Amino acid sequence: MRKKLLRTGADELSYEIRGIVKKAEQLKKVGCEILWENIGDPVQKGAKLPSWIKDIVSDLAQQDSSYSYCHSKGVLETRQFLAKRNNALGGVQITEDDILFFNGLGDAIGKIYQYLIPPARVIGPSPAYSTHSSAEAAHANDHPITYSLDPQNNWYPDMDELYLKVKYNPNIVGIMIINPDNPTGMVYPLEILRRYVAIAKEFDLFLISDEIYLNVTYNGARGYSLSQYIDDVPGIALKGLSKEIPWPGSRCGWAKFYNKEKDEEFGKLCTTLENAKMIEVSSTKLPQVALPKIMGDHRYPDYIKANNEKIGKRSQVISNILKPCKGIYFNPTSGAFYNTIVFKKNVINDKQTLAIKNPEVKKIVEDWVAQPDVLPDKRFVYYLLAAKGICVVPISSFCSDLRGFRVTLLEENEDNLKKTFEGISEAIDEYINS
Ligand SMILES: Cc1ncc(COP(=O)(O)O)c(C=O)c1O
Repeated sequence: MRKKLLRTGADELSYEIRGIVKKAEQLKKVGCEILWENIGDPVQKGAKLPSWIKDIVSDLAQQDSSYSYCHSKGVLETRQFLAKRNNALGGVQITEDDILFFNGLGDAIGKIYQYLIPPARVIGPSPAYSTHSSAEAAHANDHPITYSLDPQNNWYPDMDELYLKVKYNPNIVGIMIINPDNPTGMVYPLEILRRYVAIAKEFDLFLISDEIYLNVTYNGARGYSLSQYIDDVPGIALKGLSKEIPWPGSRCGWAKFYNKEKDEEFGKLCTTLENAKMIEVSSTKLPQVALPKIMGDHRYPDYIKANNEKIGKRSQVISNILKPCKGIYFNPTSGAFYNTIVFKKNVINDKQTLAIKNPEVKKIVEDWVAQPDVLPDKRFVYYLLAAKGICVVPISSFCSDLRGFRVTLLEENEDNLKKTFEGISEAIDEYINS
């Protein structure tokens, strides 16, 4: 090419959650059976949607109007439905004009950071769902700026670190929160959420809260929506259909803008996002039309409750198996459907292995770990995959300096769930002592 094509930020785009699948598929080809613990798609893991939800969707599929474009902000009645539900929580009140639909939250996340000027930075958690950290870093042509979630303190954010980073970096214009969190499975109490707001007020920032798992809480936990604690700070709450219904293939998510009239620059960001959608004409229509029919159905609350109870039980099964393991930090989860297990300092190194009977598989994993720059947690993950057929994601791929791995709480079959986590427990012990 006569000119360089890419911005330096393009190097920040990586998604190991999918990358590990390529490795697992290589092992599948040589006959290994894989227990997939890498992706947060309940449907791929065997979740069955009730027939009443499928009936709603199939009725809509029979109507010609479902096949047209819709309003560029999203279907009016659906935005009205969502504004009403938001307002019933009693916090910041919005109208349908404060809601903007996207083709999944992935689309929203990409666009929110894309239009900020490169020096304007949004600080996010570490570890983090990497779509946020990668998209933010790509816009800035730099590495992500992060605050730590602490595995030795329930995975709660280190608020003192956040405060100091914001105080001494005037480029930080916003703080990103994921609540309930991917990848840690933690749900934050109101006191912590209010501290985010206090920092945003003191330094004139906006907040972004990814709440895609807000209604996935269990074992007594309660999730708070940004509207309930943000007060008069400008902010964006992100929601979607992928996890709750669950309908990830719908590619349907939305942003709710709070207090956009309270700050001119923030108001312009909201308008820019609306304009960005306008030039695309519209987001996916059918799931938007289905949304109020599904979420407004009298069966929906019980359906969600039953799903959450199932995840909560799995969380307990996993705790019973992994909590006693030596050499790791383990925190029982209370929201979303992931857990992150972290190795204690200096517990893993680049010499440890797991026994692998099949010589062909052994050769494959030895080739993988012989590649340059394989971090210690990636090495463990590769051995776990080769020795036990269990596919998890290294935590170093979630914008983190910690060494560990993320699992899901989505295995529907109880025997497979126990087999998977007993396999992980044995592997941790054998690897550490090898
Ligand atoms: C925290 C978080 N936000 C957003 C997304 C993306 O959701 P969508 O399927 O709506 O793009 C995910 C998907 O795993 C997620 O975990």
